[in-house]
Amino acid sequence: MTEPATAPLPVVILISGRGSNLQAIIEAVGQGELPIDIRAVVSNRPQANGLQRATRAGIATTVIDHTRYADRQAFDQALQAHIDRYQPGLVILAGFMRLLGKEFVAHYRGRMLNIHPSLLPDFPGLNTHQRALDAGCKVHGASVHFVTVDMDGGPVVLQAHVPVAVRDTAASLAARVLELEHRLYPVAIRWFAEGRLTFNDHGQALLDGIILNAPRQLPALTGKPV
Ligand code: GRF
Repeated sequence: MTEPATAPLPVVILISGRGSNLQAIIEAVGQGELPIDIRAVVSNRPQANGLQRATRAGIATTVIDHTRYADRQAFDQALQAHIDRYQPGLVILAGFMRLLGKEFVAHYRGRMLNIHPSLLPDFPGLNTHQRALDAGCKVHGASVHFVTVDMDGGPVVLQAHVPVAVRDTAASLAARVLELEHRLYPVAIRWFAEGRLTFNDHGQALLDGIILNAPRQLPALTGKPV
């Protein structure tokens, strides 16, 4: 008799805009590469293009518009109450552009991931590509990390590098990094869904039970000469 397949991990994905990482995740699930069940996609912006991508994939969508709440705490509470209806084992931030409060982050401790377009700890925050160019970086990239109260500061689990070309603009660099993000995020999510990626009481990330003192690296993927 064959073992029953393990049920896919229920997840909720939070977005604010374009949703290209969401699309990459949806496609990875469709290709059988990602054992997750995307229970819902939530956006804080009604116009987020990612909402249409979710709808096309038959995923429930909700808008929780932050401008309609008196303060961050009220927004966070509404968001949390909504997410918890789906009982997710993992909350995935995919271009979600709101800072989340301490209590919200504590509630999802060890079960919330984010993707950030830089090689953290370099360039947390916005405009990462221009800042990498301004700093004269020869290498740039993207990082997946557990979310903690420090913005873009939780333990990094996986990174991918891209070489920076002399002729690069913020836009050209952003495009190459984004391509990598689409490969990177499903890998880290799969690790989590398979129970390989965990978070301990000391706030450390572990892969296969071993503390990740440094993030794992995905080799450069484009192979294009720069
Ligand atoms: C990505 O660059 C991601 O790293 C950052 O926000 C952007 C979202 O893009 N957090 P998309 O909405 O997934 O296309």
